[in-house]
Formats: sequence, C-alpha cells, structure tokens
Amino acid sequence: MNKAFDLIIFGGMGDLSKKKLLPALYSGWLAGHFHPDTRIFLTSRRAPDQSMKEWLQDIFSQYKPARSVTEERLNGFCEHVEFITLDLMHGCENWQKLHERLTIDGQDRIVTSFLAIPPSLFTSVCSLLDKHGINTPNCRVVLEKPLGHDLESAKKINAEVAQYFSEEQTFRIDHYLGKEAVQNLLALRFSNIIFEKLWDSSTIDHVQITIAEDMGLKGRDAYYDDSGALRDMVQNHLLQLLCLVAMEPPARMDGDSIREEKLKVLKSLEPMTNELVKKTVVRGQYVAGAVNGEPAGGYADDLNLKSSSSTESFVAIRASIQNWRWANVPFYLRTGKRLADRFAEIVIQFKDIPHHADPEWTGGALQPNRFIIRLQPDDKLVMSMMVKNHSVDDGSLKEVELDLDVTDDKRVGPYMRLILAATRGDHSLFVHREEVEYAWQWIDSIIEAWQSGKGGTLFPYQAGSWGPYEAHDLINREGRQWFHESKVR
Ligand code: BG6
Repeated sequence: MNKAFDLIIFGGMGDLSKKKLLPALYSGWLAGHFHPDTRIFLTSRRAPDQSMKEWLQDIFSQYKPARSVTEERLNGFCEHVEFITLDLMHGCENWQKLHERLTIDGQDRIVTSFLAIPPSLFTSVCSLLDKHGINTPNCRVVLEKPLGHDLESAKKINAEVAQYFSEEQTFRIDHYLGKEAVQNLLALRFSNIIFEKLWDSSTIDHVQITIAEDMGLKGRDAYYDDSGALRDMVQNHLLQLLCLVAMEPPARMDGDSIREEKLKVLKSLEPMTNELVKKTVVRGQYVAGAVNGEPAGGYADDLNLKSSSSTESFVAIRASIQNWRWANVPFYLRTGKRLADRFAEIVIQFKDIPHHADPEWTGGALQPNRFIIRLQPDDKLVMSMMVKNHSVDDGSLKEVELDLDVTDDKRVGPYMRLILAATRGDHSLFVHREEVEYAWQWIDSIIEAWQSGKGGTLFPYQAGSWGPYEAHDLINREGRQWFHESKVR
C-alpha cells in the first residue's frame, strides 16, 4: 500500500485536471493505489456551483476514466477530494487555511503540488507555497509542460522554480515516460542480456519513432499555433523516447544515473545547421481532406484567431547520434496532427542477414527483424521474425510476430503512475532541468534555421494522409520506408 499523501492540483478546474488528472486519479483510487488517508485538493479561483459529486460526475461523463463510474464508487472517491479557492497571484486567507489543512509541521506526510497551470504563474505559486511553508523537504512540486518556448524561457522557468524548490523536490512531467510500454522498454533493455548484445550499429539498421494523431487542434489553437509540432511534441516526448532507446545502460536505475545517460544522448545529437535542417527536417501543415471517412478542414479552418499561419502541424526529422554505439544509424522521428490514424510506436529495425544462402528459399518474403514498442492505441512489445510456412510440401518462409501485450490490467494510465512516483520521490521517470535545456538547444537551432528562411519550406499535406510527400522522401531516398507503409494496420 502506498503511503498517505496530499496532492494539491493548481488549476484544479482546468483542462489538464479535468481531462487527464482526475480520470487518472479515480482509476488509480479504484485500483487500490490510494492510502485511505490520501487527500486531493483542487484549487481554483472560484469553486463550481455544483456539489463535488455532481461536478465530478459531469467531468467523468465527458472524459471517461479507464474504469467505470458508479454512484457508490463516486461517493467513495469524493471522500478524498476537496475544493479550495485560491488566488494564485496574491496571498490570501485561504493560503493560510491550506497550510493548516496540510498539517505539514512535524509530520512526514508527503505534499505534492501539481502545477497544472501556465508557466507564467509558476513563480507566483512557488513563492506563495514558500511563503506559507509548503516547501519543506517533504513537499514536492510537479511541473507540467510547456516548460518554455525556447532555451532562454526554459532557463528562466527553471531558475525561478529553483529559488523555492531544490532539484530534488522538482518533478518535470513528460507523460510519455509514464506509459506502460515505455517503462517496459527500459525493463527489456536493462534486464535481459539478449537485447544489449544486439543494441548498436553492428546489428541495428535504423530506428523510427512516430507519434501520429488523427485529431486536429481540439480548441487549443492559441497554444498550438504559438508552439507547433516541433515544440509541442519533439522537444519533449519524441526526444525523451529517443533518449531511452539510445542511452547506455545506467549504473543504477535511479533518477541521477538515468538522467546522466539521457543527457549524454542529447549532447551527442548532431548539431543542426541551416544546411542540415533543409536536408533532414520536413515540416508540414494540413489542408482540407478526410479523416476516418469524415470531411476535415485544413489547419487554417481550425484556427479561431486568424485565417492563416506558418506554424507546422507535422514534422519529420532524420536525427543522428554522434557516438560509437550509434554511428551511421539514423533515427527517424515523426509526429503530426490530422494524420490518417492515431498511434505511437518505436520501431527498431535490424539489419538484413549478411548472406542469402539460397535466394529461392529466402525469396521475396524475407524481412529484416524488427522490434516494435507500441505505445498507442495499445501497449505492446512485438518482435518480428522469419519462420517456415507450416505446410509439409512448402519449405518457404513467412514473417511472424511475437506479440507481448503489456497493457496494465488496472488501466491506471501514465498520470497516476507519475504522481505516485513523484510522491515516492522517484526521479527516474521525470525530466531533469539539464535535459530540458539541452533538448531546447537542439530544437532552437531548427527553429532558427526555419526563421532565417534557409531551413526549407512548409509543405502542405491532406488531412487524413500520412503527411507531406517530402516526409516519405526523407526516408525512401535512403532505401527505407516508414513502417506503417509496409504494413496494413
Ligand atoms: C501533449 C501535446 O503533450 O501530448 C498534445 O500537447 C498531444 O498536442 C498529446 O495531443 C498526445 O498525448 P497522447 O498521450 O494522447 O499521445
């Protein structure tokens, strides 16, 4: 049983809280991850007009938790949750009341403040937490993205938070690190001898990491148009996944050791010059098309604020890691909105066999081995290999998949897992300040190339397609293919 903790969600009535945190907490509670004394405080400027139960019922009917909601369950969950109205810019009486409710002094109870609010409010909230004594060594702060817009703003956020909370107390969330299959990637790599022996340029041909989404801007147009796919997805999720695939085995599985190895990967990324950006980065923006058989407007149609924009909703990158292990192994990264389907996966493609003993036997069916870590829509680890066809009179080969379903049967989801890890003080699933800053440094050089006009143009792609033609060319011209094209899903 986990220890009792207090979780304060700043932005308790905001989008992240409603869509992700509360459904995850409810599922976690139902799966038995809460100590009976665990409490959740939802802060906002104004309490809702309904009762807590009615409010949660509304939220759960819109943003379904993974586990079903019944009257009895809702009553049980409500016992852990309370509202507290707070002004996040100025101290007020309720800050003092919050401190009293938490009974921090003399207790070893963990207090986790989850900042599900815009970064522009981080400093004010951290200073008020400090002023009201909610930053003792048992207090932690969880920061949600966006952690900056570029290197400079990220440094500023990190420095401001560090005035009040040490790095040890600070947990930067990347919800992809809380996904079951991602954690299994670490388990597989670092607790099985067979993978490490194969995990380098002598056996691996290339790596593909794709996070494809079929949805559009979903009402987040102001934020998204200011960010674009590169900042929204590559700076964090895709680079974190790349680090986990590429890092050396850490000495220990603790936060510091994992961070050291991830940092080495980020530092080894080939620096992006204007020339290289033009050659190895493709950006696109969707135009009207059809997604899942339904007509879908273009990016400009989805913008409520303006009628045109040069923000990318798609990006594909051929990245190189300049170290001994990964010399000449391209990492193809790709993400976009309004693509044909929603899925996320890492494909490790091994090299072809060195010698075809009998071309007729190996024939056209021969495929290189692939190890696929599927994060979405289901959590799976798949190893593809060649075997013989069953028939007695047919000696030819076919490809089969060893398919390991690693779905968490309680379906608590990434946010619950990460909140529990933060309350345990386990940094291994979080992003260190330096990682954020190195990632931004690399991303900034791509953005600078785009802004200078020397980093290539913005290509259109049809909503419901797999992105611009140029993204296919990026990989096809090297004799490779995006995995989804070689496979009927
Ligand atoms: C968020 C991005 O970090 O991740 C969103 O801001 C994106 O734009 C989302 O839709 C994708 O997360 P998931 O877990 O649904 O793949």
